[in-house]
Amino acid sequence: MKENILNNYEQLCSVITDEIIEQIKYKPKSVITIAGGQTPTGVYKMLSERLISEQVDYSKITFVSLDEWVGLDINTNGSCIETLSSHLFNNLNLNEDQIVFFNGVATNLTAECNRIDNIIAKLGGIDFMVLGIGMNGHLGFNEPNIITENSSIVSLAEKTKEVMTKYFDKQIELTHGITLGYKQIMETNKIILMASGAKKSKIIEQTIKSEASYDIPSTILKKHSNCQLLIDKDAKEVEA
Ligand code: GLP
Repeated sequence: MKENILNNYEQLCSVITDEIIEQIKYKPKSVITIAGGQTPTGVYKMLSERLISEQVDYSKITFVSLDEWVGLDINTNGSCIETLSSHLFNNLNLNEDQIVFFNGVATNLTAECNRIDNIIAKLGGIDFMVLGIGMNGHLGFNEPNIITENSSIVSLAEKTKEVMTKYFDKQIELTHGITLGYKQIMETNKIILMASGAKKSKIIEQTIKSEASYDIPSTILKKHSNCQLLIDKDAKEVEA
Protein backbone atom coordinates (compact mmCIF):
# COMPACT_ATOMS: atom_id res chain seq x y z
CA MET A 1 0.00 0.00 0.00
CA LYS A 2 1.62 3.24 -1.17
CA GLU A 3 1.49 6.03 1.36
CA ASN A 4 1.19 9.71 0.55
CA ILE A 5 0.98 12.55 3.06
CA LEU A 6 -0.63 15.79 1.98
CA ASN A 7 -0.10 19.11 3.76
CA ASN A 8 -3.71 19.63 4.74
CA TYR A 9 -7.29 18.44 4.32
CA GLU A 10 -7.94 20.73 1.35
CA GLN A 11 -5.03 19.21 -0.58
CA LEU A 12 -6.03 15.71 0.43
CA CYS A 13 -9.52 16.19 -0.98
CA SER A 14 -8.17 17.89 -4.07
CA VAL A 15 -5.82 15.01 -4.94
CA ILE A 16 -8.60 12.47 -4.45
CA THR A 17 -11.01 14.52 -6.55
CA ASP A 18 -8.39 14.68 -9.32
CA GLU A 19 -8.15 10.89 -9.26
CA ILE A 20 -11.92 10.38 -9.42
CA ILE A 21 -12.24 12.78 -12.33
CA GLU A 22 -9.36 11.09 -14.13
CA GLN A 23 -11.09 7.74 -13.61
CA ILE A 24 -14.38 9.04 -15.07
CA LYS A 25 -12.61 10.50 -18.09
CA TYR A 26 -10.68 7.26 -18.63
CA LYS A 27 -13.79 5.12 -18.27
CA PRO A 28 -17.06 7.03 -18.64
CA LYS A 29 -19.03 3.99 -17.43
CA SER A 30 -17.08 3.79 -14.16
CA VAL A 31 -18.64 2.25 -11.07
CA ILE A 32 -17.58 4.36 -8.11
CA THR A 33 -17.93 3.88 -4.37
CA ILE A 34 -17.26 6.72 -1.95
CA ALA A 35 -17.61 6.07 1.78
CA GLY A 36 -20.09 7.93 3.93
CA GLY A 37 -18.92 9.60 7.14
CA GLN A 38 -17.24 12.93 7.83
CA THR A 39 -13.82 12.40 6.22
CA PRO A 40 -14.90 12.49 2.55
CA THR A 41 -17.26 15.51 2.85
CA GLY A 42 -14.66 17.77 1.21
CA VAL A 43 -14.37 15.29 -1.67
CA TYR A 44 -18.16 15.27 -2.18
CA LYS A 45 -18.14 19.07 -2.40
CA MET A 46 -15.11 19.39 -4.69
CA LEU A 47 -16.23 16.53 -6.89
CA SER A 48 -19.71 17.92 -7.48
CA GLU A 49 -18.34 21.41 -8.16
CA ARG A 50 -15.63 20.22 -10.54
CA LEU A 51 -17.80 17.74 -12.45
CA ILE A 52 -20.04 20.69 -13.27
CA SER A 53 -17.43 23.45 -13.81
CA GLU A 54 -15.19 21.22 -15.96
CA GLN A 55 -18.20 19.83 -17.84
CA VAL A 56 -17.16 16.24 -17.22
CA ASP A 57 -19.62 13.75 -18.71
CA TYR A 58 -20.83 11.83 -15.66
CA SER A 59 -24.02 10.58 -17.31
CA LYS A 60 -22.83 6.97 -17.48
CA ILE A 61 -21.18 6.52 -14.09
CA THR A 62 -22.82 4.58 -11.27
CA PHE A 63 -22.34 5.37 -7.59
CA VAL A 64 -22.51 2.24 -5.45
CA SER A 65 -23.01 2.42 -1.72
CA LEU A 66 -20.33 1.23 0.70
CA ASP A 67 -22.46 0.89 3.80
CA GLU A 68 -25.48 2.03 5.80
CA TRP A 69 -26.70 1.93 9.35
CA VAL A 70 -29.39 -0.74 9.75
CA GLY A 71 -32.62 1.05 10.66
CA LEU A 72 -31.80 4.32 8.89
CA ASP A 73 -32.68 5.74 5.52
CA ILE A 74 -32.58 9.12 3.81
CA ASN A 75 -35.03 10.56 6.35
CA THR A 76 -32.39 10.55 9.11
CA ASN A 77 -29.75 13.28 8.98
CA GLY A 78 -26.37 11.61 9.21
CA SER A 79 -27.32 8.32 7.55
CA CYS A 80 -24.93 7.40 4.75
CA ILE A 81 -27.49 7.94 2.00
CA GLU A 82 -28.54 11.28 3.48
CA THR A 83 -24.91 12.44 3.74
CA LEU A 84 -24.03 11.47 0.18
CA SER A 85 -27.32 12.80 -1.20
CA SER A 86 -27.13 16.21 0.43
CA HIS A 87 -23.44 16.79 -0.31
CA LEU A 88 -23.01 15.06 -3.67
CA PHE A 89 -25.93 13.38 -5.43
CA ASN A 90 -28.37 16.29 -5.09
CA ASN A 91 -25.84 18.69 -6.62
CA LEU A 92 -25.66 16.59 -9.77
CA ASN A 93 -28.11 15.66 -12.45
CA LEU A 94 -28.21 11.89 -11.95
CA ASN A 95 -30.71 9.32 -13.16
CA GLU A 96 -32.22 7.06 -10.53
CA ASP A 97 -30.25 4.05 -11.77
CA GLN A 98 -26.95 5.90 -11.31
CA ILE A 99 -27.34 5.61 -7.53
CA VAL A 100 -27.25 2.11 -6.08
CA PHE A 101 -27.57 2.31 -2.32
CA PHE A 102 -28.29 -0.05 0.56
CA ASN A 103 -31.75 0.43 2.00
CA GLY A 104 -31.10 0.36 5.75
CA VAL A 105 -34.81 -0.05 6.50
CA ALA A 106 -35.44 -2.98 4.16
CA THR A 107 -37.68 -5.56 5.85
CA ASN A 108 -35.60 -8.39 4.45
CA LEU A 109 -31.97 -7.41 4.89
CA THR A 110 -30.63 -10.64 3.40
CA ALA A 111 -32.61 -9.94 0.24
CA GLU A 112 -31.25 -6.38 0.32
CA CYS A 113 -27.69 -7.73 0.43
CA ASN A 114 -28.47 -10.03 -2.49
CA ARG A 115 -30.00 -7.16 -4.45
CA ILE A 116 -26.84 -5.07 -4.11
CA ASP A 117 -24.56 -8.06 -4.86
CA ASN A 118 -26.49 -8.79 -8.04
CA ILE A 119 -26.33 -5.20 -9.24
CA ILE A 120 -22.57 -5.02 -8.61
CA ALA A 121 -22.07 -8.30 -10.46
CA LYS A 122 -24.16 -7.03 -13.41
CA LEU A 123 -22.13 -3.82 -13.48
CA GLY A 124 -18.97 -5.92 -13.69
CA GLY A 125 -17.63 -4.95 -10.26
CA ILE A 126 -16.43 -1.67 -8.83
CA ASP A 127 -13.78 0.39 -10.61
CA PHE A 128 -12.81 2.94 -7.99
CA MET A 129 -13.37 3.17 -4.27
CA VAL A 130 -12.65 5.86 -1.70
CA LEU A 131 -12.66 4.40 1.78
CA GLY A 132 -12.58 6.06 5.18
CA ILE A 133 -11.20 4.36 8.26
CA GLY A 134 -13.02 3.78 11.54
CA MET A 135 -11.30 4.44 14.87
CA ASN A 136 -10.87 0.66 15.15
CA GLY A 137 -9.72 0.31 11.56
CA HIS A 138 -13.08 -0.72 10.19
CA LEU A 139 -13.74 -0.43 6.46
CA GLY A 140 -17.39 0.26 5.74
CA PHE A 141 -18.92 -1.74 8.58
CA ASN A 142 -16.42 -4.56 8.34
CA GLU A 143 -15.64 -4.55 12.05
CA PRO A 144 -12.52 -6.17 13.56
CA ASN A 145 -12.42 -9.96 13.33
CA ILE A 146 -15.58 -10.30 11.27
CA ILE A 147 -14.78 -11.93 7.95
CA THR A 148 -17.27 -11.01 5.25
CA GLU A 149 -17.30 -11.88 1.58
CA ASN A 150 -20.09 -10.07 -0.23
CA SER A 151 -22.69 -7.65 1.21
CA SER A 152 -23.35 -8.48 4.84
CA ILE A 153 -25.14 -7.44 8.00
CA VAL A 154 -22.61 -6.87 10.76
CA SER A 155 -23.00 -6.20 14.51
CA LEU A 156 -21.50 -2.84 15.35
CA ALA A 157 -18.35 -2.93 17.48
CA GLU A 158 -18.46 -1.10 20.83
CA LYS A 159 -15.98 1.48 19.48
CA THR A 160 -18.29 2.25 16.57
CA LYS A 161 -21.27 2.67 18.92
CA GLU A 162 -19.22 5.12 21.02
CA VAL A 163 -18.19 7.19 18.03
CA MET A 164 -21.45 7.15 16.07
CA THR A 165 -23.17 9.90 18.09
CA LYS A 166 -21.08 12.41 16.10
CA TYR A 167 -23.18 11.76 13.00
CA PHE A 168 -26.62 12.40 14.40
CA ASP A 169 -28.47 15.39 15.81
CA LYS A 170 -30.58 13.15 18.05
CA GLN A 171 -29.95 10.05 20.13
CA ILE A 172 -30.41 6.89 18.08
CA GLU A 173 -29.96 3.28 19.18
CA LEU A 174 -28.19 1.32 16.47
CA THR A 175 -26.87 -2.21 16.64
CA HIS A 176 -25.99 -3.28 13.08
CA GLY A 177 -24.58 -2.04 9.83
CA ILE A 178 -25.03 -3.27 6.27
CA THR A 179 -21.82 -3.20 4.25
CA LEU A 180 -20.01 -4.33 1.17
CA GLY A 181 -17.80 -7.28 2.05
CA TYR A 182 -14.06 -7.79 1.72
CA LYS A 183 -14.37 -9.64 -1.57
CA GLN A 184 -16.14 -6.70 -3.19
CA ILE A 185 -13.64 -4.27 -1.72
CA MET A 186 -10.60 -6.32 -2.71
CA GLU A 187 -11.93 -6.91 -6.24
CA THR A 188 -12.19 -3.16 -6.82
CA ASN A 189 -9.65 -2.05 -9.43
CA LYS A 190 -8.36 0.97 -7.57
CA ILE A 191 -8.73 1.98 -3.93
CA ILE A 192 -7.87 5.08 -1.94
CA LEU A 193 -7.97 4.84 1.85
CA MET A 194 -8.25 8.38 3.18
CA ALA A 195 -7.81 9.77 6.68
CA SER A 196 -7.63 13.23 8.15
CA GLY A 197 -6.92 14.73 11.54
CA ALA A 198 -5.01 13.81 14.68
CA LYS A 199 -7.79 11.57 15.98
CA LYS A 200 -7.01 9.11 13.18
CA SER A 201 -3.24 9.16 13.73
CA LYS A 202 -3.14 6.19 16.08
CA ILE A 203 -5.13 3.83 13.87
CA ILE A 204 -3.17 5.03 10.84
CA GLU A 205 0.09 4.22 12.60
CA GLN A 206 -1.26 0.79 13.57
CA THR A 207 -2.39 0.20 9.98
CA ILE A 208 1.04 1.07 8.62
CA LYS A 209 2.97 -0.97 11.19
CA SER A 210 0.78 -4.10 11.42
CA GLU A 211 0.70 -7.09 9.13
CA ALA A 212 -2.50 -7.76 7.20
CA SER A 213 -5.02 -9.23 9.64
CA TYR A 214 -8.76 -9.07 10.30
CA ASP A 215 -7.91 -7.69 13.79
CA ILE A 216 -7.42 -4.36 12.05
CA PRO A 217 -9.56 -4.42 8.90
CA SER A 218 -7.68 -1.57 7.21
CA THR A 219 -4.51 -3.71 7.11
CA ILE A 220 -6.23 -6.14 4.71
CA LEU A 221 -5.81 -3.45 2.05
CA LYS A 222 -2.07 -4.21 2.10
CA LYS A 223 -2.95 -7.27 0.03
CA HIS A 224 -4.47 -5.11 -2.71
CA SER A 225 -2.19 -4.34 -5.64
CA ASN A 226 -3.56 -0.89 -6.38
CA CYS A 227 -4.39 0.76 -3.07
CA GLN A 228 -3.03 4.08 -1.84
CA LEU A 229 -3.17 5.44 1.67
CA LEU A 230 -3.72 9.19 1.40
CA ILE A 231 -3.68 11.19 4.61
CA ASP A 232 -3.08 14.73 5.79
CA LYS A 233 -0.17 15.68 8.06
CA ASP A 234 -2.33 15.68 11.18
CA ALA A 235 -3.25 12.04 10.64
CA LYS A 236 0.45 11.16 10.60
CA GLU A 237 1.44 12.85 13.84
CA VAL A 238 0.56 10.56 16.70
CA GLU A 239 -1.20 12.31 19.59
CA ALA A 240 0.62 12.20 22.93
C1 GLP B 1 -18.09 5.02 9.64
C2 GLP B 1 -18.52 4.34 8.35
C3 GLP B 1 -17.39 4.20 7.37
C4 GLP B 1 -16.50 5.40 7.47
C5 GLP B 1 -15.79 5.33 8.81
C6 GLP B 1 -15.04 6.59 9.15
O1 GLP B 1 -18.69 4.41 10.74
N1 GLP B 1 -19.10 3.05 8.57
O2 GLP B 1 -17.88 4.04 6.06
O3 GLP B 1 -15.55 5.41 6.44
O4 GLP B 1 -16.67 4.99 9.84
O5 GLP B 1 -15.92 7.65 9.38
P1 GLP B 1 -15.47 9.14 9.54
O6 GLP B 1 -14.97 9.58 8.21
O7 GLP B 1 -16.73 9.89 9.92
O8 GLP B 1 -14.44 9.19 10.57
